[in-house]
Amino acid sequence: SETHYHDFVIQARPVKRLCRTHNTITVNGQFPGPTLIIRNGDTLVIRTTNAARYNITLHWHGIRQLRNPWADGPEYVTQCPIQPGATYTYRFTVQNQEGTLWWHAHSRWLRATVYGALIILPRLGASYPFPTPNCEFPILLGEWWDRNPMDVLRLSQFTGAAPNVSDAYTINGQPGDLYRCSNRGTTVFPVSLGETVLLRVINSALNQELFFSVANHQLTVVGVDSSYIRPFTTNVIMVGPGQTTNVLLTANQAPGRYYMAARAYNTAQNAPFDNTTTTAILQYTTPFSRGTQPSRPILPVLPAYNDTNTAMGFTMRVKNPSQTRVPTQIDENLFFTVGLGLINCSRPSVRCQGPNNTRFAASMNNVSFVLPRTNSIMQAYYQGTPGVFTTDFPPVPPIQFDYTGNVSRGLWQPVKGTKVYKLKYGARVQIVLQDTSIVTTEDHPMHLHGYNFAVVGMGFGNFNAQRDTPRFNLFDPPLRNTIGTTPGGWVAIRFTANNPGVWLMHCHIDAHLGWGLAMSFLVENGVGPSQSVIPPPADLPRC
Ligand code: C2O
Repeated sequence: SETHYHDFVIQARPVKRLCRTHNTITVNGQFPGPTLIIRNGDTLVIRTTNAARYNITLHWHGIRQLRNPWADGPEYVTQCPIQPGATYTYRFTVQNQEGTLWWHAHSRWLRATVYGALIILPRLGASYPFPTPNCEFPILLGEWWDRNPMDVLRLSQFTGAAPNVSDAYTINGQPGDLYRCSNRGTTVFPVSLGETVLLRVINSALNQELFFSVANHQLTVVGVDSSYIRPFTTNVIMVGPGQTTNVLLTANQAPGRYYMAARAYNTAQNAPFDNTTTTAILQYTTPFSRGTQPSRPILPVLPAYNDTNTAMGFTMRVKNPSQTRVPTQIDENLFFTVGLGLINCSRPSVRCQGPNNTRFAASMNNVSFVLPRTNSIMQAYYQGTPGVFTTDFPPVPPIQFDYTGNVSRGLWQPVKGTKVYKLKYGARVQIVLQDTSIVTTEDHPMHLHGYNFAVVGMGFGNFNAQRDTPRFNLFDPPLRNTIGTTPGGWVAIRFTANNPGVWLMHCHIDAHLGWGLAMSFLVENGVGPSQSVIPPPADLPRC
């Protein structure tokens, strides 16, 4: 195995999109940021220098960071941010993970432009569990704002209203032909007739789940997150923010140009959504005779924005290729409500521009997560500094309560707090994540740091333990780091708490994360150094 050294300089650079030039926060002047390609077992050393004017951290989304929370990155959870002018070196080894992951800023909305692909190939000499493709392309789906995304966030946090939706979706940073002033930058992927290519599709959008499709071509899904799956063929995939999906595509159509396109999947009936479409071009390089090349590429048919059946149907087809190692006995049986809420304001004010004189809030088990400001949770825990967090994240029994019906708002005035839930090393954990419908029912893509979990069940409506537990798939559930709660429904996951440290769990829709849709696990050390958090690096930033 190898060690890869990189220098990442966070810096503002002019980037032109949608007819205007914006001063954009980038890594090394690149937008999207550099693609990292490594092999299973390799070590990454990334010296990160903050030459911008915002505090920042970087997160290696989906990397397990075994016993090494210091390299995980969420600001104020595992580290204090890297301040302007400061440097911090992320150092970690990839252990038994292969597939497509990505990296992104984990401080406020900086990940809008600070992100890139992190590709983990099989070990040297090993191969994929499918025929080796002729070539590979990372496809980063993103969002672009005409304003500085940090200002969009700040305004919404000040007024309590929902933030503005983005002005464009992007593929590898480019909106594509259907947006104004964009066709010169449209990403083009060259293929030769008969070739098979591996598309590594990453949803790095801030706030949107996306459907993705390629005109006239079938997609064979072979992996999600950092796991291989049992291959299946489809016309369209749905990728939630934070998720990745690897698909094989064979260039077996009439030589020409075909659009690959992504558009929102958004079930929030009373939330705004953006129904424009981002495109890139799959271009056959085979020489074809004059007149046969279509003047315009063909657009694929994408499902409607509220097509839950297609989205759910896709997610439920994803299975592990063989029997999954999943806990069958459970030590911690947890039930977490996940949802948006509104905080009533006593009198109208500029800070209460949500519906009916409210502010938006979001919570898990009615706790709206607050980041500490004086220290990170992990540093405070390691050093025994009191007053930074509490360990009273409330377990909620899965009582018979209609979470998806017309829930009275008065019942859901979330409390604010930095509350963690303690797990003993090695605990076998089940979590049922139940969507609630205070404001709207939505698919919340829930991401757990430091772990891959098995997705053992999902369904619509209220979870019913007696009815639903016996139907769990404990045989070949997929292993993922991010999974959506069904809109107006639930999802059940299992994992063994064998990675000590503080690990954030949150909705990967940043608007919801900003409203507090998060919590943290504190996984205690086990016995001996091999089950304990390693000491922090000397350059770990202080607050
Ligand atoms: Cu990809 Cu906590 O995030």
